[in-house]
Amino acid sequence: MSYETIEIQTTNEGWAEVVFNRPDVLNALNLRMVNDLSSALDELAAEDGVRGLIFHGAGDRAFVAGADISELVDRKVEDALKAINAGLFQKLEDFPRPTIAAIRGYCLGGGSELALACDIRIGADDTVMGQPEVKLGIIPGAGAPHRLTRVVGTGMARELIFTGRLVKADECARIGFLNRVVAVDALLEEARGTMRSILKNSDLAVRLAKVALNAASNSVDRRHMMLECISQGITFESEDKRERMTRFLERKKAKEERADG
Ligand code: COA
Repeated sequence: MSYETIEIQTTNEGWAEVVFNRPDVLNALNLRMVNDLSSALDELAAEDGVRGLIFHGAGDRAFVAGADISELVDRKVEDALKAINAGLFQKLEDFPRPTIAAIRGYCLGGGSELALACDIRIGADDTVMGQPEVKLGIIPGAGAPHRLTRVVGTGMARELIFTGRLVKADECARIGFLNRVVAVDALLEEARGTMRSILKNSDLAVRLAKVALNAASNSVDRRHMMLECISQGITFESEDKRERMTRFLERKKAKEERADG
């Protein structure tokens, strides 16, 4: 399995690791990465030897710092109706085996929604999570309104989504956004140790427990998913969104111009 934007590492211990590999842009999720990840999930689900997945980000600064704003700026209603990220995260939540997000650094926007679609989230002491979409004139339209609510409760989810504030590791652990936080150097081993303790158990029982847990946690109703996408589509065409995203991208252009002298 070879992809442009992600790397798949297989282990001989029964799980595979998926590494988001665009470190220059803090592993921002572009359309290529969505398609790569979607194909990889199909392939990994079909592999008998793969009994679990661990996700992490390349580089030392991010898990995934959100959807790629240089693509988002041009997305329109028709793109939102394709439920591009929402569909991917639903496929991830439905992955038949346990999934663990091992999160260091920034995990924002679509990156946070991706992590919320995993079964278990383990952070490092440098982890920063959040749903800053409203700062960019859009909503978190790929699952956060229901998955974050499920994970941290309705009051906290509303506060985080309305303010867009970034949440440091210790607070994430306190409110349940992260299951726990360990030192950065211990992060991967902590995730692998957790996976090992899952894989010691009955394969059949773990698989069926996931089916039961997904059913019990009110997995996303397709109609709710589309409501988020439609709302997202409305924001996608607003002048406010274009201005806010352009401001972010121009900051980047100004940095490049300064570097060119
Ligand atoms: N989309 C596209 N590019 C992104 C990105 C995103 N979501 N997040 C970071 N990047 C890029 C930056 O443009 C920059 O690229 P450059 O070096 O070519 O200029 C690079 O990643 C490093 O980020 P930078 O902003 O320079 O680092 P920082 O330490 O100053 O700030 C963040 C880090 C995460 C606070 C900042 O990058 C940020 O706010 N990113 C957007 C987060 C967001 O809103 N995500 C939700 C999107 S829906």
